[in-house]
Amino acid sequence: MSHTQVAIIGAGPSGLLLSQLLHLNGIDTVVIERQSRRHVEGRIRAGVLEQGTSELLIEAQVGGRMLKERLVHEGFGLGFSDRSFRVDLKGLSGAAVSIYGQTEVTKDLMDARTAAGARLVFEAADVSVAGFETAHPTVRYRHEGRIHELTCDYIAGCDGYHGVCRRSVPAGALQTFERAYPFGWLGVLADVPPATEEILYSNHARGFAMCSMRSLTRSRYYIQCGVDEAIEAWPDSRFWDELRARLPASVAASVVTGPSIEKSIAPLRSFVVEPMRFGRLFLVGDAAHIVPPTGAKGLNLAVADVRVLYQALAERYRTGRADALERYSERCLRRVWKAVRFSWWFTTIMHKFSDEPFAHRLQLAELDYLTGSTAALTSVAENYVGLRFDAP
Ligand code: FAD
Ligand code: PHB
Repeated sequence: MSHTQVAIIGAGPSGLLLSQLLHLNGIDTVVIERQSRRHVEGRIRAGVLEQGTSELLIEAQVGGRMLKERLVHEGFGLGFSDRSFRVDLKGLSGAAVSIYGQTEVTKDLMDARTAAGARLVFEAADVSVAGFETAHPTVRYRHEGRIHELTCDYIAGCDGYHGVCRRSVPAGALQTFERAYPFGWLGVLADVPPATEEILYSNHARGFAMCSMRSLTRSRYYIQCGVDEAIEAWPDSRFWDELRARLPASVAASVVTGPSIEKSIAPLRSFVVEPMRFGRLFLVGDAAHIVPPTGAKGLNLAVADVRVLYQALAERYRTGRADALERYSERCLRRVWKAVRFSWWFTTIMHKFSDEPFAHRLQLAELDYLTGSTAALTSVAENYVGLRFDAP
C-alpha cells in the first residue's frame, strides 16, 4: 500500500498536465494509465490550441518546443458554394490560435514528468476507485501481475469518455446530457504539404470536408462519413477523390496527395455530465464532457478544467481552505456549456444531415449571412479563439 496526495487516473493531456502543475506547486501525484506509453504517445487527435491553452503549457514549463515549432494562425477559412472565405480571427477578436498536435503536447508533458521523476504507472489493469465520498479515497489496480492499492486525499478522473471514474459514481448522483450525430469524421494524416495556409472547414452537398495540418510538410484532412463505415472501404485513392470533390475547386487543385500514415474514423457526439465533482472525486476533460471536433474545443476544454482544478487544489494545500474545490464543477460547467453550444452550432451548419435540399439551402443562407456580417463573424471569432475565463 502506498500514499499520494492526488491520484490521477489517465495519462492523456489532462492527467499529465494536472500532474505537472501540481508538482510545480509542491503537491505529490501518481498517474495511473491503462495503456502503454507508446500507445498514448501515438494517438493522433487534436491540432488547435487556444491562446489560453498555450499560456498554461508555458506556465507548466512545457511550452519550449511548442513556441519553436507551432504554426500561429490568425484566421481560418470557410468553404461553401465553391468559394472560400477567410475569418480574420486576429482582426475580429485580437487573438490567434496555435497549430501544435496533441501528440506533441503529450510527448512534451511525458518528457517533463519523467525528467522530474514522477510516478507514472502504464499498463495498469482493472483500475478501480473507491471511498471518494469519505476523507480516505483509494485506487486499486493490477500491474505486472500484482494488485496495488494507493490511498490519497483526492482522485482526479482524467480517464476520458470510456474511463472508469465517471462510471464509479453511484447511479442517480450524476445527470448526463447527450446528443449523438448520425455521422463521423474519417481522418487522414499524410506527409504532404498542406493545400491551404490556414485550416479550412468546407460545407458541401456531398458532406463536410476539412483541411488542417501539423506542419508545413504534414497535412491532416477529414471528411464526414457514415458512423458505421469500415475503414477498409476507404483506400487512400477514394479518400483523396472524395476530399477534392467536397472542397472549393481552387483549394481542390492545391491538394497534394500521398500515402496516408494514419487513417481513423471518429464518431461525433456532444456529452456533458453534471456535476463534475462527487465528494473527493473530480472529473476532468473528456471524462466529463465531449464535443464534436468541429469547433476544435475538446483539448482546450480539458486544459481549462485542469487550470481550475490545479489552482483549487493548490489553494487547499496552501491555506487549508476548500471553497475553490467546492466551486470546481460550477466554474468548469459555465465554460463547458458555452463550448458545447458553439461546437454543436458549428457542426450543424457545416455537415450534411439529410438529402433534403431545403436544409442545405438554409445552411448556405446562414453561411452567406455570417460571412457578410461583422457582428456575426466577431461572435464566431471570439468563440473559436477561446472565451475569456469567467470570474471565479
Ligand atoms: P483522453 O485524451 O481521452 O485521455 C484519457 C486517458 O485515460 C487515456 O490515455 C486513456 O487510455 C486513459 N484511460 C481510460 N480508461 C482508463 C482506466 N480505466 N484506467 C486508467 N486509464 C484509463 N480537441 C481540440 O481541442 N482541438 C482539436 O482540434 C481537436 N480535434 C480532435 C480530432 C479528433 C479526430 C478527435 C477524436 C478529438 C479531437 N479533439 C480536439 C478532442 C481532444 O482530443 C480530447 O478532448 C482530449 O484528448 C481530451 O483529453 P483528456 O486527457 O481529457 O482525455
Ligand atoms: C486537426 O487538425 O486535427 C483539427 C483541427 C481543427 C478542428 C478539428 C481537428 O476543428
